[in-house]
Amino acid sequence: MATIYNSDARKLNKLIADNSIDTTITSPPYFDMKDYGHKNQIGFGQDYNAYLEDLSKVMKSVFTATKESGSLWVIIDTFKRNDTVIPLPFDFSRIATEAGWKLQDIIIWKKDKTVPWSRKGATRKIFEYVLFFTKSSNFKYYSDRTRDTKDLKEWWIKYPERYSPFGKSLEEIWEFSIPTQGSWGEGYIKHFCPLPEDLVRRIITLTTDEGDMILDPFSGSGTVPAQAAFMKRDYSGFELNAEYVKMFKTYLKKNLKSRVIEYERSTHSPSQEEFKENIIKLRILKFAKVLIKKSKIYDISISHILAIRSDETKLGAHQVSAAKYIVLIEPTNTIEQIKEELSKIIGCAPLSKFGISAELIIKTEFSEFESECENQELYIYSTSNTHKFKEKTANKKIKINEKAIISNIEISINETAYRSI
Ligand SMILES: C[S@@+](CC[C@H](N)C(=O)[O-])C[C@H]1O[C@@H](n2cnc3c(N)ncnc32)[C@H](O)[C@@H]1O
Repeated sequence: MATIYNSDARKLNKLIADNSIDTTITSPPYFDMKDYGHKNQIGFGQDYNAYLEDLSKVMKSVFTATKESGSLWVIIDTFKRNDTVIPLPFDFSRIATEAGWKLQDIIIWKKDKTVPWSRKGATRKIFEYVLFFTKSSNFKYYSDRTRDTKDLKEWWIKYPERYSPFGKSLEEIWEFSIPTQGSWGEGYIKHFCPLPEDLVRRIITLTTDEGDMILDPFSGSGTVPAQAAFMKRDYSGFELNAEYVKMFKTYLKKNLKSRVIEYERSTHSPSQEEFKENIIKLRILKFAKVLIKKSKIYDISISHILAIRSDETKLGAHQVSAAKYIVLIEPTNTIEQIKEELSKIIGCAPLSKFGISAELIIKTEFSEFESECENQELYIYSTSNTHKFKEKTANKKIKINEKAIISNIEISINETAYRSI
Protein backbone atom coordinates (compact mmCIF):
# COMPACT_ATOMS: atom_id res chain seq x y z
CA MET A 1 0.00 0.00 0.00
CA ALA A 2 2.12 2.86 -1.31
CA THR A 3 1.20 6.09 0.51
CA ILE A 4 2.82 9.34 1.53
CA TYR A 5 0.74 10.67 4.42
CA ASN A 6 0.46 14.44 4.48
CA SER A 7 0.66 14.12 8.22
CA ASP A 8 2.91 14.55 11.26
CA ALA A 9 5.53 11.79 11.69
CA ARG A 10 4.71 11.83 15.42
CA LYS A 11 1.41 10.14 14.46
CA LEU A 12 3.26 7.24 12.82
CA ASN A 13 2.17 4.69 15.45
CA LYS A 14 -1.49 5.38 14.58
CA LEU A 15 -1.07 4.88 10.85
CA ILE A 16 1.59 2.19 10.37
CA ALA A 17 1.01 -1.37 11.59
CA ASP A 18 3.48 -3.00 14.01
CA ASN A 19 6.13 -5.25 12.40
CA SER A 20 5.28 -4.15 8.86
CA ILE A 21 8.34 -2.14 7.75
CA ASP A 22 11.52 -3.70 6.30
CA THR A 23 13.78 -0.65 6.07
CA THR A 24 13.53 3.01 7.01
CA ILE A 25 15.76 5.49 5.20
CA THR A 26 15.54 9.10 6.32
CA SER A 27 17.21 12.43 6.86
CA PRO A 28 15.48 14.17 9.78
CA PRO A 29 14.52 17.85 9.53
CA TYR A 30 17.43 20.16 10.37
CA PHE A 31 17.46 21.63 13.86
CA ASP A 32 16.60 25.31 13.76
CA MET A 33 18.21 26.56 10.55
CA LYS A 34 15.65 25.48 7.95
CA ASP A 35 12.01 26.51 7.81
CA TYR A 36 10.01 23.85 5.96
CA GLY A 37 6.91 26.03 6.02
CA HIS A 38 4.63 24.26 8.49
CA LYS A 39 3.66 25.20 12.04
CA ASN A 40 4.05 21.63 13.35
CA GLN A 41 7.46 21.02 11.86
CA ILE A 42 10.16 19.39 13.98
CA GLY A 43 13.36 21.44 14.32
CA PHE A 44 12.66 25.04 13.30
CA GLY A 45 11.83 27.21 16.34
CA GLN A 46 12.41 24.41 18.87
CA ASP A 47 15.05 24.17 21.57
CA TYR A 48 17.57 21.34 21.15
CA ASN A 49 16.14 19.07 23.87
CA ALA A 50 12.56 19.34 22.55
CA TYR A 51 13.93 18.60 19.06
CA LEU A 52 15.71 15.45 20.30
CA GLU A 53 12.61 14.39 22.23
CA ASP A 54 10.47 14.60 19.08
CA LEU A 55 13.03 12.63 17.05
CA SER A 56 13.12 10.08 19.87
CA LYS A 57 9.33 9.70 19.77
CA VAL A 58 9.41 9.09 16.00
CA MET A 59 12.28 6.59 16.27
CA LYS A 60 10.43 4.63 18.97
CA SER A 61 7.35 4.35 16.72
CA VAL A 62 9.55 3.35 13.76
CA PHE A 63 11.13 0.64 15.94
CA THR A 64 7.72 -0.84 16.80
CA ALA A 65 6.63 -0.64 13.15
CA THR A 66 9.78 -2.48 11.95
CA LYS A 67 10.08 -6.24 11.38
CA GLU A 68 12.67 -8.23 13.39
CA SER A 69 14.87 -8.48 10.26
CA GLY A 70 14.53 -4.77 9.54
CA SER A 71 16.87 -1.78 9.63
CA LEU A 72 17.06 1.99 9.96
CA TRP A 73 19.37 4.27 7.96
CA VAL A 74 19.76 7.91 9.01
CA ILE A 75 21.64 10.57 7.07
CA ILE A 76 22.56 13.29 9.55
CA ASP A 77 25.19 15.91 10.30
CA THR A 78 26.78 17.99 13.08
CA PHE A 79 26.29 21.76 13.20
CA LYS A 80 27.68 24.73 15.13
CA ARG A 81 25.89 26.82 17.78
CA ASN A 82 27.58 29.58 19.81
CA ASP A 83 30.99 28.65 18.39
CA THR A 84 30.60 25.01 19.52
CA VAL A 85 30.02 21.85 17.54
CA ILE A 86 26.69 20.17 18.40
CA PRO A 87 27.30 16.43 17.85
CA LEU A 88 23.81 15.63 16.52
CA PRO A 89 24.77 12.23 14.94
CA PHE A 90 26.03 11.05 18.34
CA ASP A 91 23.02 12.46 20.25
CA PHE A 92 20.75 10.83 17.66
CA SER A 93 22.59 7.54 18.04
CA ARG A 94 21.98 7.70 21.81
CA ILE A 95 18.24 8.31 21.49
CA ALA A 96 17.88 5.61 18.82
CA THR A 97 19.78 3.11 20.99
CA GLU A 98 17.51 4.00 23.93
CA ALA A 99 14.54 3.28 21.64
CA GLY A 100 15.92 -0.26 21.12
CA TRP A 101 17.91 0.14 17.87
CA LYS A 102 21.33 -1.55 17.53
CA LEU A 103 23.97 0.66 15.91
CA GLN A 104 25.71 -1.54 13.31
CA ASP A 105 27.84 0.87 11.31
CA ILE A 106 28.85 4.50 10.90
CA ILE A 107 29.47 5.47 7.29
CA ILE A 108 30.81 8.71 5.91
CA TRP A 109 29.00 10.18 2.93
CA LYS A 110 31.69 12.19 1.14
CA LYS A 111 30.21 14.88 -1.06
CA ASP A 112 31.81 15.94 -4.29
CA LYS A 113 31.44 19.68 -3.82
CA THR A 114 30.65 22.10 -1.03
CA VAL A 115 31.18 25.81 -0.50
CA PRO A 116 34.87 26.67 -0.91
CA TRP A 117 35.15 28.58 2.40
CA SER A 118 34.95 27.71 6.10
CA ARG A 119 34.72 29.59 9.38
CA LYS A 120 37.53 30.19 11.87
CA GLY A 121 38.28 27.00 13.83
CA ALA A 122 36.69 24.69 11.27
CA THR A 123 37.86 22.85 8.22
CA ARG A 124 35.72 22.88 5.07
CA LYS A 125 32.63 20.69 5.48
CA ILE A 126 32.80 17.82 3.00
CA PHE A 127 30.87 14.92 4.58
CA GLU A 128 27.76 13.81 6.46
CA TYR A 129 27.16 10.75 8.60
CA VAL A 130 25.13 7.73 7.53
CA LEU A 131 24.08 5.77 10.63
CA PHE A 132 23.01 2.17 10.15
CA PHE A 133 20.85 0.57 12.85
CA THR A 134 19.03 -2.77 13.01
CA LYS A 135 16.16 -4.02 15.13
CA SER A 136 17.84 -7.35 15.97
CA SER A 137 21.08 -9.21 15.27
CA ASN A 138 19.33 -11.26 12.61
CA PHE A 139 18.93 -8.58 9.93
CA LYS A 140 18.75 -8.56 6.13
CA TYR A 141 22.06 -7.48 4.60
CA TYR A 142 23.19 -8.38 1.08
CA SER A 143 26.82 -7.26 0.88
CA ASP A 144 27.49 -9.40 -2.23
CA ARG A 145 25.09 -7.26 -4.28
CA THR A 146 27.13 -4.11 -3.81
CA ARG A 147 30.65 -5.49 -4.17
CA ASP A 148 33.01 -3.76 -6.55
CA THR A 149 34.47 -5.84 -9.38
CA LYS A 150 35.85 -2.95 -11.40
CA ASP A 151 38.10 -0.83 -9.22
CA LEU A 152 40.51 -3.60 -8.19
CA LYS A 153 44.29 -3.69 -8.18
CA GLU A 154 45.98 -6.53 -10.09
CA TRP A 155 46.60 -8.52 -6.85
CA TRP A 156 43.40 -10.56 -7.33
CA ILE A 157 45.13 -12.39 -10.20
CA LYS A 158 47.95 -13.74 -8.00
CA TYR A 159 45.87 -14.11 -4.83
CA PRO A 160 42.40 -15.21 -6.03
CA GLU A 161 41.82 -17.02 -2.72
CA ARG A 162 41.86 -13.67 -0.87
CA TYR A 163 39.18 -12.07 -3.04
CA SER A 164 35.49 -12.90 -2.82
CA PRO A 165 34.17 -14.08 -6.21
CA PHE A 166 31.65 -11.24 -5.84
CA GLY A 167 34.36 -8.56 -5.68
CA LYS A 168 35.65 -6.12 -3.08
CA SER A 169 33.24 -5.25 -0.26
CA LEU A 170 32.04 -1.70 0.42
CA GLU A 171 34.28 0.69 2.33
CA GLU A 172 33.23 2.99 5.17
CA ILE A 173 33.44 6.09 2.97
CA TRP A 174 30.81 6.46 0.26
CA GLU A 175 31.21 9.11 -2.42
CA PHE A 176 28.06 10.53 -3.98
CA SER A 177 27.42 13.86 -5.68
CA ILE A 178 24.90 16.26 -4.18
CA PRO A 179 21.79 16.40 -6.38
CA THR A 180 21.73 19.59 -8.41
CA GLN A 181 18.75 21.75 -9.32
CA GLY A 182 17.03 20.20 -12.29
CA SER A 183 18.40 16.68 -11.72
CA TRP A 184 14.87 15.60 -10.82
CA GLY A 185 13.37 17.06 -13.97
CA GLU A 186 12.31 20.50 -15.00
CA GLY A 187 11.21 22.75 -12.12
CA TYR A 188 10.63 19.88 -9.78
CA ILE A 189 13.21 20.24 -7.12
CA LYS A 190 12.55 23.39 -5.13
CA HIS A 191 12.97 21.39 -1.95
CA PHE A 192 15.87 21.73 0.47
CA CYS A 193 18.65 19.14 0.47
CA PRO A 194 17.26 16.07 -1.31
CA LEU A 195 19.29 12.88 -0.84
CA PRO A 196 21.36 11.57 -3.77
CA GLU A 197 19.41 8.91 -5.66
CA ASP A 198 22.46 6.64 -5.89
CA LEU A 199 23.00 6.68 -2.14
CA VAL A 200 19.37 5.68 -1.53
CA ARG A 201 19.62 2.98 -4.22
CA ARG A 202 22.71 1.52 -2.57
CA ILE A 203 20.92 1.27 0.80
CA ILE A 204 17.82 -0.30 -0.78
CA THR A 205 20.02 -2.84 -2.58
CA LEU A 206 21.93 -3.68 0.61
CA THR A 207 19.02 -4.28 2.96
CA THR A 208 15.81 -5.02 1.03
CA ASP A 209 14.26 -7.36 -1.52
CA GLU A 210 11.72 -6.59 -4.20
CA GLY A 211 8.26 -6.25 -2.63
CA ASP A 212 9.66 -5.10 0.76
CA MET A 213 8.18 -2.09 2.56
CA ILE A 214 10.38 1.01 2.83
CA LEU A 215 9.54 3.97 5.07
CA ASP A 216 10.67 7.59 5.20
CA PRO A 217 9.01 9.47 8.10
CA PHE A 218 10.41 12.79 6.74
CA SER A 219 9.92 12.27 3.00
CA GLY A 220 10.59 15.82 1.74
CA SER A 221 10.97 15.73 -2.03
CA GLY A 222 10.40 11.95 -1.92
CA THR A 223 13.80 10.59 -2.96
CA VAL A 224 13.32 7.49 -0.78
CA PRO A 225 9.76 6.53 -1.83
CA ALA A 226 10.53 7.29 -5.49
CA GLN A 227 13.60 5.03 -5.55
CA ALA A 228 11.65 2.34 -3.66
CA ALA A 229 8.97 2.39 -6.37
CA PHE A 230 11.55 2.40 -9.20
CA MET A 231 13.20 -0.65 -7.60
CA LYS A 232 9.90 -2.55 -7.31
CA ARG A 233 9.61 -2.11 -3.53
CA ASP A 234 6.59 -0.83 -1.64
CA TYR A 235 6.79 2.48 0.27
CA SER A 236 5.24 4.53 3.04
CA GLY A 237 6.08 8.07 4.06
CA PHE A 238 5.17 11.17 6.08
CA GLU A 239 5.55 14.80 5.04
CA LEU A 240 3.91 17.85 6.59
CA ASN A 241 4.28 20.11 3.57
CA ALA A 242 1.43 19.30 1.15
CA GLU A 243 3.30 20.97 -1.74
CA TYR A 244 6.15 18.45 -1.47
CA VAL A 245 3.73 15.53 -1.45
CA LYS A 246 2.00 16.85 -4.57
CA MET A 247 5.31 17.37 -6.38
CA PHE A 248 6.40 13.84 -5.50
CA LYS A 249 3.19 12.31 -6.92
CA THR A 250 3.56 14.20 -10.20
CA TYR A 251 7.20 13.19 -10.49
CA LEU A 252 6.45 9.53 -9.78
CA LYS A 253 3.63 9.33 -12.32
CA LYS A 254 5.85 10.80 -15.01
CA ASN A 255 8.92 8.63 -14.39
CA LEU A 256 7.79 5.30 -12.91
CA LYS A 257 7.52 3.25 -16.10
CA SER A 258 10.88 4.22 -17.63
CA ARG A 259 12.76 3.97 -14.33
CA VAL A 260 11.45 0.48 -13.57
CA ILE A 261 12.72 -0.64 -17.00
CA GLU A 262 16.09 0.98 -16.23
CA TYR A 263 16.21 -0.85 -12.87
CA GLU A 264 15.36 -4.21 -14.42
CA ARG A 265 18.20 -3.80 -16.91
CA SER A 266 20.69 -2.84 -14.18
CA THR A 267 20.04 -5.94 -12.05
CA HIS A 268 21.89 -8.10 -14.55
CA SER A 269 25.58 -7.34 -14.23
CA PRO A 270 27.77 -9.27 -16.68
CA SER A 271 31.02 -7.80 -15.35
CA GLN A 272 30.38 -9.25 -11.88
CA GLU A 273 29.57 -12.66 -13.41
CA GLU A 274 32.78 -12.52 -15.42
CA PHE A 275 34.85 -11.60 -12.35
CA LYS A 276 33.35 -14.48 -10.35
CA GLU A 277 34.20 -16.94 -13.13
CA ASN A 278 37.80 -15.71 -13.30
CA ILE A 279 38.29 -15.93 -9.52
CA ILE A 280 36.99 -19.53 -9.51
CA LYS A 281 39.22 -20.58 -12.41
CA LEU A 282 42.28 -18.92 -10.83
CA ARG A 283 41.60 -20.60 -7.50
CA ILE A 284 41.28 -24.10 -9.02
CA LEU A 285 44.56 -23.69 -10.91
CA LYS A 286 46.46 -22.07 -8.05
CA PHE A 287 45.29 -24.89 -5.77
CA ALA A 288 47.32 -27.31 -7.95
CA LYS A 289 50.34 -25.03 -7.84
CA VAL A 290 50.25 -24.77 -4.02
CA LEU A 291 49.71 -28.55 -3.71
CA ILE A 292 52.93 -29.20 -5.67
CA LYS A 293 54.85 -26.76 -3.47
CA LYS A 294 53.48 -27.99 -0.12
CA SER A 295 53.97 -31.68 -1.01
CA LYS A 296 57.74 -31.14 -0.91
CA ILE A 297 57.44 -30.90 2.91
CA TYR A 298 56.61 -34.63 2.89
CA ASP A 299 59.25 -35.40 0.24
CA ILE A 300 56.53 -36.10 -2.29
CA SER A 301 57.56 -35.19 -5.80
CA ILE A 302 54.61 -34.29 -8.02
CA SER A 303 55.60 -33.94 -11.65
CA HIS A 304 52.18 -33.28 -13.22
CA ILE A 305 48.69 -32.43 -12.06
CA LEU A 306 45.63 -32.65 -14.25
CA ALA A 307 43.04 -30.25 -12.76
CA ILE A 308 39.52 -30.82 -14.04
CA ARG A 309 36.70 -28.53 -12.97
CA SER A 310 33.84 -30.75 -11.94
CA ASP A 311 30.19 -30.83 -10.92
CA GLU A 312 29.39 -27.89 -8.65
CA THR A 313 25.97 -29.00 -7.48
CA LYS A 314 27.03 -30.40 -4.10
CA LEU A 315 29.19 -27.66 -2.63
CA GLY A 316 29.71 -27.07 1.10
CA ALA A 317 28.85 -23.81 2.90
CA HIS A 318 32.03 -21.88 2.04
CA GLN A 319 32.86 -23.60 -1.21
CA VAL A 320 32.74 -21.82 -4.55
CA SER A 321 33.66 -24.67 -6.89
CA ALA A 322 34.72 -28.31 -7.24
CA ALA A 323 37.66 -29.93 -9.01
CA LYS A 324 39.24 -33.32 -9.57
CA TYR A 325 43.05 -33.33 -9.23
CA ILE A 326 44.82 -36.28 -10.92
CA VAL A 327 48.32 -36.22 -9.50
CA LEU A 328 51.32 -37.94 -11.07
CA ILE A 329 54.00 -38.76 -8.51
CA GLU A 330 57.26 -40.60 -8.24
CA PRO A 331 56.40 -43.15 -5.53
CA THR A 332 58.68 -42.93 -2.50
CA ASN A 333 56.13 -44.48 -0.16
CA THR A 334 52.93 -46.53 -0.29
CA ILE A 335 50.05 -44.94 -2.21
CA GLU A 336 47.92 -44.97 0.98
CA GLN A 337 50.63 -43.12 2.89
CA ILE A 338 51.03 -40.53 0.11
CA LYS A 339 47.29 -40.06 -0.16
CA GLU A 340 47.06 -39.47 3.59
CA GLU A 341 49.84 -36.90 3.50
CA LEU A 342 48.36 -35.05 0.53
CA SER A 343 44.93 -35.05 2.23
CA LYS A 344 46.56 -33.43 5.26
CA ILE A 345 47.95 -30.67 3.04
CA ILE A 346 44.53 -30.09 1.48
CA GLY A 347 42.82 -30.03 4.90
CA CYS A 348 45.08 -27.25 6.25
CA ALA A 349 45.47 -23.57 5.39
CA PRO A 350 46.15 -22.20 2.87
CA LEU A 351 44.45 -24.84 0.68
CA SER A 352 41.51 -25.34 3.07
CA LYS A 353 40.71 -21.64 2.56
CA PHE A 354 40.45 -21.81 -1.24
CA GLY A 355 36.77 -22.81 -1.19
CA ILE A 356 37.44 -25.71 -3.57
CA SER A 357 35.84 -29.10 -3.04
CA ALA A 358 38.83 -31.20 -4.16
CA GLU A 359 38.87 -34.86 -5.18
CA LEU A 360 42.35 -36.39 -5.27
CA ILE A 361 43.40 -39.24 -7.58
CA ILE A 362 46.97 -40.54 -7.46
CA LYS A 363 48.79 -42.02 -10.43
CA THR A 364 52.32 -43.36 -10.49
CA GLU A 365 52.59 -44.38 -14.16
CA PHE A 366 52.86 -41.74 -16.85
CA SER A 367 50.90 -43.86 -19.31
CA GLU A 368 47.94 -43.96 -16.89
CA PHE A 369 48.16 -40.20 -16.40
CA GLU A 370 48.37 -39.68 -20.14
CA SER A 371 45.23 -41.70 -20.79
CA GLU A 372 43.33 -39.39 -18.38
CA CYS A 373 44.30 -36.52 -20.68
CA GLU A 374 43.06 -38.16 -23.83
CA ASN A 375 40.21 -36.94 -26.01
CA GLN A 376 39.86 -33.51 -24.52
CA GLU A 377 41.13 -30.03 -25.14
CA LEU A 378 43.54 -29.07 -22.38
CA TYR A 379 45.72 -26.11 -21.44
CA ILE A 380 49.24 -26.37 -20.05
CA TYR A 381 50.45 -24.03 -17.29
CA SER A 382 53.88 -23.82 -15.69
CA THR A 383 54.06 -24.58 -11.96
CA SER A 384 54.92 -20.93 -11.27
CA ASN A 385 52.24 -19.16 -13.34
CA THR A 386 48.67 -20.41 -13.27
CA HIS A 387 46.96 -17.30 -14.61
CA LYS A 388 48.26 -17.57 -18.18
CA PHE A 389 48.41 -20.85 -20.09
CA LYS A 390 51.57 -21.65 -22.07
CA GLU A 391 50.02 -23.86 -24.73
CA LYS A 392 46.97 -25.82 -25.75
CA THR A 393 47.46 -29.59 -25.87
CA ALA A 394 44.87 -30.61 -28.47
CA ASN A 395 45.70 -34.16 -27.44
CA LYS A 396 49.43 -33.68 -27.93
CA LYS A 397 51.96 -35.79 -25.97
CA ILE A 398 52.90 -34.16 -22.66
CA LYS A 399 56.59 -33.84 -21.98
CA ILE A 400 57.55 -35.77 -18.84
CA ASN A 401 60.81 -33.92 -18.24
CA GLU A 402 59.06 -30.65 -17.44
CA LYS A 403 56.72 -30.24 -14.43
CA ALA A 404 53.34 -28.89 -15.43
CA ILE A 405 49.76 -28.21 -14.43
CA ILE A 406 47.30 -29.30 -17.09
CA SER A 407 43.65 -28.36 -17.06
CA ASN A 408 40.43 -28.12 -19.02
CA ILE A 409 40.27 -24.52 -17.72
CA GLU A 410 41.39 -21.89 -20.19
CA ILE A 411 42.67 -18.67 -18.67
CA SER A 412 45.09 -16.06 -19.97
CA ILE A 413 45.20 -12.89 -17.90
CA ASN A 414 47.74 -10.22 -18.50
CA GLU A 415 48.48 -8.57 -15.14
CA THR A 416 49.73 -5.34 -16.70
CA ALA A 417 46.27 -4.73 -18.18
CA TYR A 418 44.93 -4.30 -14.64
CA ARG A 419 47.80 -2.28 -13.20
CA SER A 420 46.51 1.17 -14.13
CA ILE A 421 43.00 0.82 -12.65
C1 LIG B 1 15.80 17.04 5.55
S1 LIG B 1 14.17 17.05 4.87
C2 LIG B 1 14.06 15.50 4.08
C3 LIG B 1 14.60 15.48 2.72
C4 LIG B 1 14.36 14.19 1.99
N1 LIG B 1 15.17 13.11 2.52
C5 LIG B 1 14.61 14.33 0.49
O1 LIG B 1 15.34 13.54 -0.11
O2 LIG B 1 14.04 15.25 -0.09
C6 LIG B 1 13.13 16.90 6.23
C7 LIG B 1 11.64 16.95 5.90
O3 LIG B 1 10.89 16.70 7.09
C8 LIG B 1 9.69 17.43 7.01
N2 LIG B 1 9.12 17.53 8.37
C9 LIG B 1 9.46 18.36 9.37
N3 LIG B 1 8.75 18.09 10.48
C10 LIG B 1 7.94 17.05 10.17
C11 LIG B 1 6.97 16.31 10.90
N4 LIG B 1 6.69 16.61 12.17
N5 LIG B 1 6.32 15.31 10.28
C12 LIG B 1 6.58 15.00 8.98
N6 LIG B 1 7.48 15.68 8.23
C13 LIG B 1 8.15 16.70 8.83
C14 LIG B 1 10.09 18.75 6.38
O4 LIG B 1 8.99 19.40 5.76
C15 LIG B 1 11.16 18.31 5.38
O5 LIG B 1 10.62 18.14 4.12
